[in-house]
Amino acid sequence: MLVLRPSPKSGCGIFTTLPIAKGEHVRLWQKEDERFVSSEEANADPDLRAACDVHCVIVEGGFTCPSDFHRMSIGWYMNHSFNPNIASSAELDWEFYAVRDIAVDEELCCDYRTLSPFETVPDHYT
Ligand SMILES: C[S@@+](CC[C@H](N)C(=O)[O-])C[C@H]1O[C@@H](n2cnc3c(N)ncnc32)[C@H](O)[C@@H]1O
Repeated sequence: MLVLRPSPKSGCGIFTTLPIAKGEHVRLWQKEDERFVSSEEANADPDLRAACDVHCVIVEGGFTCPSDFHRMSIGWYMNHSFNPNIASSAELDWEFYAVRDIAVDEELCCDYRTLSPFETVPDHYT
């Protein structure tokens, strides 16, 4: 099972209560839990903009966001790692897979830079 817990990286993150084998599919999102929010729309609403800055993927002209910020798939809480244990790509329809064996109580992290050509990662991230 995947659960949200406090993360040493920042705020909360996604942790596994069961071991995950390399190559295993990791279900992080409901299929329809995604929508595009333009930069104009986000900038017109400070609460929406703040939510976009924390949870969303920067894409051309705006953000890929949860369909409903009040009913978010657990994947929207994923933290970044420079040594990620899960990864995805457009070719994989943005489904995530373990890139190595993952132990019980490990945090699941991807490399944000692989999510979009517009994503960057601050130097202080681990
Ligand atoms: C998708 S959210 C992840 C969940 C977030 N930690 C929370 O508590 O809601 C992305 C945000 O988490 C923080 N974050 C993610 N990975 C991080 C890292 N490796 N180091 C520091 N902060 C990180 C940043 O504030 C980023 O905007």
